[in-house]
Amino acid sequence: MSTTPATKGLEGIVAANSGICYIDGDEGVLAYRGIDIHELAQSSNFEEVCYLLWFGNLPKREELEHFRQRLAESRKVDPAIIEMMRNFPKRATPMEVLRTAVSALSFYDPDEKAVDHDSNVRKAYALTSQIAMIVAIYDRIRKGKKVVDADPKLSHAANFLLQLTGEKPSPTAEKALDIALILHADHELNASTFAARVTAATLSDMHSAITSAIGALKGPLHGGANEAVMRMLFALDKAGQDPVEHVKGLLAQKKKISGFGHRVYTTEDPRATHLRKMSEDLGRSSGNPKWFDMSRKIEKYINAEKKLNANVDFYSASTYTTLGLDVDLFTPIFAVSRISGWAAHVIEQLDDNRLIRPRAEYIGPRYPNKYVPIDRR
Ligand SMILES: CC(C)(COP(=O)(O)OP(=O)(O)OC[C@H]1O[C@@H](n2cnc3c(N)ncnc32)[C@H](O)[C@@H]1OP(=O)(O)O)[C@@H](O)C(=O)NCCC(=O)NCCS
Repeated sequence: MSTTPATKGLEGIVAANSGICYIDGDEGVLAYRGIDIHELAQSSNFEEVCYLLWFGNLPKREELEHFRQRLAESRKVDPAIIEMMRNFPKRATPMEVLRTAVSALSFYDPDEKAVDHDSNVRKAYALTSQIAMIVAIYDRIRKGKKVVDADPKLSHAANFLLQLTGEKPSPTAEKALDIALILHADHELNASTFAARVTAATLSDMHSAITSAIGALKGPLHGGANEAVMRMLFALDKAGQDPVEHVKGLLAQKKKISGFGHRVYTTEDPRATHLRKMSEDLGRSSGNPKWFDMSRKIEKYINAEKKLNANVDFYSASTYTTLGLDVDLFTPIFAVSRISGWAAHVIEQLDDNRLIRPRAEYIGPRYPNKYVPIDRR
């Protein structure tokens, strides 16, 4: 029997001590290891952010160089995984493929069961490189294109785009993706990170924890929201429908609008601030601000009508579309970034572990409830 009433959705419950990510939802502050996300988005890069999340401080120049090298050396996926992906049914979505392939990566890990600190750090490098590769390679496979070799000279963002498109990206595309990766890297005890920590806390391995996280990220209330936003924009565009009239109708039916609302932020999600600007800048510089303009109309209406703010997923949709990325890659790209935060949290959890096992408030038939033999029911 639990002693306190249940908090639906664990809202406001503090479930762990963590030194990784600071959020002030009322002030719209997000910081990794105390460093404001705005400063990181402006001045840092994804590799440096991974280092910060995993090791707790910004790297010196040589440390960053070594980090980049190690990440590039980890760009290896066993050919059996690639073969496995070739045999998946054509209707498999990139996110389902990612979930399954990451689980299978453990078969080829030299010490998949080890959960000590050093093994976890090694797996953090491996999985960060491999998740990006799996997303890119599967996209090539499903489009009947040749798999592209990794280039150790390129940054994480640039190598991902190279392996995805077969071409070295423009500096603008590389920079835009790099900033998006920084913005998505960590977010405290969001659903997928919590799932990763719950799994890790049983002393299961990193691959199992990250597989749990990917499963949680996939849902439309979490990372899947960015795909839902873009599908809505595409449908509106195709039907020539007014975006504001459409969301008005959804709200009248008490439906949730993907890309809005947040459990923690009562003010603007600071990641949305950057993504809005990126969406606008990329839209205008590419000569196609249509997706930004539609998004902005929807945002203004929902702000005014429901006092709800855009979250990280709203403008990432139009940003990624303007970068030429397919809709069903949006959530996998979220994972390409969030693996950095998941890994940091698994490392932190296992450095000072205790099983995560909350209680439920029992609301079923009163105890004791009689067992009735089957022929008397
Ligand atoms: C993120 C989310 C799951 C948070 O959920 P939550 O903390 O449980 O919030 P609730 O569902 O209790 O919503 C609180 C109120 O805001 C409203 N609301 C929240 N998000 C909304 C949205 N996207 N569209 C319309 N109304 C929304 C709810 O209807 C509710 O209103 P009510 O009190 O009048 O019933 C929710 O905002 C949502 O479903 N958003 C859309 C999916 C999304 O973008 N997810 C990505 C999050 S980064």
